[in-house]
Amino acid sequence: MNRRHFIQSGSAAASAMLLVKSRTAFAYDANSAVRHGLLGCGNRGTSVADSFSKNTSAQVVALADLFPDNLAAGRQHFNELNAGLGRAAVDSKLLFHGPHAFEQLAASHEVDLIQISTPPFFHVEHLDTAVSSGKHVYCEKPVGIDIRQARQALEIAKRVKSTQSVDVGFQCRNAPPIAAAAEKIKAGALGKIALVAGRYYAPASKEKNRPGAGPDEYRLRNWLWDRALSGDILVEQNIHIIDLANWLVGAHPLKATATGGRNILTHYGNCWDNYQVDFTYPSDVHLSFSSTQFGLDGTFDAGLRLFGANGAATIPYSGPLQITGTQAWAWQDSSATAPGSGQFAANGAFSDNLAFADREKERIFIDSITSGNSHNQIADGVETALSCMLGRMAGLTGREVTWEDLLAHGETYDLGFRLDQFA
Ligand SMILES: NC(=O)c1ccc[n+]([C@@H]2O[C@H](COP(=O)([O-])OP(=O)(O)OC[C@H]3O[C@@H](n4cnc5c(N)ncnc54)[C@H](O)[C@@H]3O)[C@@H](O)[C@H]2O)c1
Repeated sequence: MNRRHFIQSGSAAASAMLLVKSRTAFAYDANSAVRHGLLGCGNRGTSVADSFSKNTSAQVVALADLFPDNLAAGRQHFNELNAGLGRAAVDSKLLFHGPHAFEQLAASHEVDLIQISTPPFFHVEHLDTAVSSGKHVYCEKPVGIDIRQARQALEIAKRVKSTQSVDVGFQCRNAPPIAAAAEKIKAGALGKIALVAGRYYAPASKEKNRPGAGPDEYRLRNWLWDRALSGDILVEQNIHIIDLANWLVGAHPLKATATGGRNILTHYGNCWDNYQVDFTYPSDVHLSFSSTQFGLDGTFDAGLRLFGANGAATIPYSGPLQITGTQAWAWQDSSATAPGSGQFAANGAFSDNLAFADREKERIFIDSITSGNSHNQIADGVETALSCMLGRMAGLTGREVTWEDLLAHGETYDLGFRLDQFA
């Protein structure tokens, strides 16, 4: 009996219970669900967990969040989603809140996969606990906001078992148009690459508040504005484009110079609202990168252009994606792009060239679990995070910073308050 027939012939709850029955030693059959626990029930976490539920055999069975109100919103959302998919509601025993919620989720025997969608400052601590639990892990980018966390993540990577799959949330690599262009570029379609130009122009992020919230809670809810919590816009948001550049050039930058500042934003926080970075890669290949994060919706534009001896590639988040030159090519599969003008959504969902990035990313990750061909993307995630920190340090210090300078500097950020107050 296949999964679909089973759901139709039994009650939804009964079928869901059978589908999420326990399995041993990460052996999955086609009819079993991967039992999915979401840590961080905010915008992106919810959107990615939705995508897992709708596009793969993963089924949300547990939720965890620091704040009870966000956990309650997540519970309502996923109970509705599960009901629509003929699945059981989230068991109240598998709802965790407070500063130890991530440990309680990791200790649960009824969860196979932990999705870490908390603010960046916490990723490595949460990754450590999740990997130690032996569960599969989907960790949002960035893997670390400073050198100390990056080093810690590399140690964690060594402890990932061969039966465990750990993915990092760089879904742009899996967007069908970008994956197709990358295949051609890696096969030499551009010839020797001389120059790369990248951009990430985004509108300001919106304030989140709760009446009565104290200053630490306000900071946590507006983590995007806070360098220690987010890593700054280069490490938190622009990282997607810098990741694509590293991937397509095939290396990390060796050094960087940068300028930028906080020229427009006046609200709470210390993240810059614009960066201009010149990254130098091996063979004197330069990535000229610029970004903004201020102003109103309507300014969103992100993408990459690569210029080589035999041609150039244009890879925008939205709009025509193509290679010109001796091996001219253009993405034409309209079934893998969404209609519309390429709106940026605050929940991290994009249209156009990224329309199916999440779906593909989630499918490939779940396949790695069910097939036993595990992934361990931590080291790659750290390399990209460090590349962004290189640009950030060049900007903040106002001088050229090499990869060796960055690692030797040992830059660290502290939260400056205790999470215990939210117990
Ligand atoms: N891959 C992408 O395209 C993409 C897009 C947007 C965001 N993100 C990443 O996703 C992550 C979440 O972003 P978001 O926009 O959903 O933020 P959000 O603020 O909407 O959600 C974060 C959630 O984490 C909870 N939280 C905070 N600290 C916690 C802790 N210590 N333990 C448990 N829960 C905690 C918050 O209460 C909140 O519910 C970030 O790392 C961000 O960089 C990725």
